[in-house]
Amino acid sequence: MLFKYIQAVSCLAVTCTANSTPHPTSALEYSSSAYIEYSTVPGFFLQDDNATDPGTFDYTATNFGLINRTYPTDNQCSDSFTQWQKFKHYVTTLNIRSGKDVDYKVVFLGNHGEGYHNLAESYYGTPAWNCYWSIRDGNGTSVWADAKITPNGAAQAQKAADFWASRIALQKIPLPQSYYVSPLTRCLQTANITFSQLPLSRTHPFVPTVKELFREGISGHTCDRRGNRTYIHDAFPRYQIEAGFSEEDLLFKPLEGEVPTDQDIRSKTVLDDVFGSDGHTWISVTSHSGEIASILRVFGHRTFSLNTGAVIPVLVKAETVSGTPASTATVPYTTISTCSTQPPLPTATI
Ligand SMILES: *[C@@H]1O[C@H](CO)[C@@H](O)[C@H](O)[C@H]1NC(C)=O
Ligand SMILES: *[C@@H]1O[C@H](CO)[C@@H](O)[C@H](O)[C@H]1NC(C)=O
Ligand SMILES: *[C@@H]1O[C@H](CO)[C@@H](O)[C@H](O)[C@H]1NC(C)=O
Ligand SMILES: *[C@@H]1O[C@H](CO)[C@@H](O)[C@H](O)[C@H]1NC(C)=O
Ligand SMILES: *[C@@H]1O[C@H](CO)[C@@H](O)[C@H](O)[C@H]1NC(C)=O
Repeated sequence: MLFKYIQAVSCLAVTCTANSTPHPTSALEYSSSAYIEYSTVPGFFLQDDNATDPGTFDYTATNFGLINRTYPTDNQCSDSFTQWQKFKHYVTTLNIRSGKDVDYKVVFLGNHGEGYHNLAESYYGTPAWNCYWSIRDGNGTSVWADAKITPNGAAQAQKAADFWASRIALQKIPLPQSYYVSPLTRCLQTANITFSQLPLSRTHPFVPTVKELFREGISGHTCDRRGNRTYIHDAFPRYQIEAGFSEEDLLFKPLEGEVPTDQDIRSKTVLDDVFGSDGHTWISVTSHSGEIASILRVFGHRTFSLNTGAVIPVLVKAETVSGTPASTATVPYTTISTCSTQPPLPTATI
């Protein structure tokens, strides 16, 4: 089920460089009596430490949260190596030593920048947003159906781009080898701003794959209804759209919402798809706060809420285990509660 590349590493005392030509190992034969189990490997990022407060955490002030520490493989690295270079060598070594049933990936989960739906929810207040405004396309002056990012949201994405650029220059951070993105416009835009201006290698260009199931929790709110395939292709022509992606959005249902446990089931489905077909180790996913929370649950990571524009890296261990996988039976969407008359604007109390 897993698909991993083993990179040849040259373990000379001073080089610690990975051969960039990966070759696939044999993937375990698919079997209905085996499944992929995920866990977060703690101790490498501040975000997986209970002592770190997500509410005040700034990924740009902390080297993406990578902890300053030693690794058992540091003696194979030059003293001049940065923390990210030493971590890369450690992760590469983990994969070499782990056998074909275990795969380690470092997944950078990026939340989209602020969208017009975020502004509207703040403006109207969450109760009025949920029951009245969220099910409409907009209010006449602002459109939030498949919301675009605001200028502030674009600035947040630019901040991510600038931070990646600084990590490349100062830390020689390993760049993503594969990019995935939600089909909602705010993520398509955020990924573009974040990665399209970076000095990437020719072997791993920014050509993200649009994947249906990396979308936000499907809430019955118009901001969670995606554009058609033709629109996505025309607006972001360099993006790859995954095979089987339907022209119309077949998952959004007006006035009905996906059940949270079902969201975790489909998050695992899309992660199994990525881990079962992508042998790369360094992965970027541009998605949404609710969907990233779901992915973190599947990874067994502690709860870590992301503000708009924020990024969290996770060292993930994926293991193919034998046995019967947990049920993936989903239940029907449930009706969301709405109100028929326009609620008053919240009174300004500040
Ligand atoms: C972190 O907190 C969770 C929930 O309170 C607890 O189960 C877990 O053991 C804690 N982890 C560590 C390393 O302290
Ligand atoms: C790691 O150490 C460097 C300086 O040696 C410091 O600038 C950086 O903030 C530290 N990072 C963390 C996550 O503690
Ligand atoms: C529409 O909502 C935006 C906030 O999202 C607000 O600034 C604007 O004033 C609203 N327009 C109308 C006509 O109420
Ligand atoms: C992608 O981002 C670049 C840089 O910010 C911008 O010039 C370009 O218009 C964007 N493309 C799309 C399709 O949004
Ligand atoms: C796809 O969406 C675009 C933009 O919303 C719309 O103009 C177009 O008619 C749609 N195409 C189809 C085939 O429905």
